[in-house]
Amino acid sequence: MDDLGFHDALAMLDWQIELGADEALGDTPVDRFALADQAPAATVVASAPKARASVAAPPADDAPPAPSVDAVALAQAAASAAQDLPALHAAMEGFAHCPLRETATRLVFADGLVGARVMIVGEAPGRDEEQQGKPFVGQSGQLLDRMLAAIGLDRAAPDPAQAVDIANVVPWRPPQNRKPEADELAMMAPFMRRHIALAAPDLVVLMGNAACEALIGQTGITRLRGEWVTLDGRPAIPMLHPAYLLRRPQEKAAAWADLLSLKARLRTKT
Ligand code: URA
Repeated sequence: MDDLGFHDALAMLDWQIELGADEALGDTPVDRFALADQAPAATVVASAPKARASVAAPPADDAPPAPSVDAVALAQAAASAAQDLPALHAAMEGFAHCPLRETATRLVFADGLVGARVMIVGEAPGRDEEQQGKPFVGQSGQLLDRMLAAIGLDRAAPDPAQAVDIANVVPWRPPQNRKPEADELAMMAPFMRRHIALAAPDLVVLMGNAACEALIGQTGITRLRGEWVTLDGRPAIPMLHPAYLLRRPQEKAAAWADLLSLKARLRTKT
C-alpha cells in the first residue's frame, strides 16, 4: 500500500465509498487481514445489523407463528389518511414496516418546489442524499440538474412553470446503496402515489426502473423510456436514470430526446 500512487489511492477510496464504507469508525486504521487468525467468529455475528438478524432467525418450534402483516395495505391506509404533505411526511416517519428504515440514518422526503408543474420520481437516496437530507444531490443529482437546466427547468426556481418537485419512491438509503427489493418498492409506492396526488404536478418523470416498477408495475427502462403513460390520471414519462447515464454516456442522446418530449408536453396544457 505504501507505494500506491495518489490516483490509485483515490480510486480505492471512491470504490469503498461507493460500497457504502463511508463512515470513519476510529482514528487509527486497523489491518483486519493481520487480525484474521485471532478474530473470534462471534465478533462477526455480533456486528450483523440487528434488524437483519431478527428477520433471519427461524422461529422456535413451539413459538406461535409470527402474525403476518400486510405492509402494503398498512401503507395504503396511512398514505390515504394524510391530507397534506406534512401529514404524509409524518406518516412515512411513523411507518415501521420497511426494513430500510433500520439501517438508514434519516428519511429523505423531497426537494424543489411544491406545486411545480413537473415532478421527478427517483429510486432511493444515496450517501450524499442521506447526509444532506435532500434527494438527488450527489453525482447523479448534479447530472439531473444539468439535464433539467438544458430544458429551462431548475429545482430552485420560485415559479412553478420553471421549477421541479423531486422525491424518491424509497425515502431511506438502502445499505451499501443496493437496489430496493420488490417488496420494499411495493410498500413505499402508496406513499409516493399520495405524494404525487397532494403535490398535484401536471407531469411526472419516472426516473429509472425502480420508479417504473413501483408506480406503473413495469420494468425494462430502455424499452419504456420516452413513451408517455398515464399514472393516476396524470401524464408520466419513463426516463433513463442519470446514474445509468453516468455509466453509459452514449445513452445521453436518448435522454435528450426524452427531455425534449417533456419540454414539448409542458408547452401544451398537459
Ligand atoms: N438516485 C436516486 O434515484 N435518487 C437520489 O436521490 C439519488 C440517486
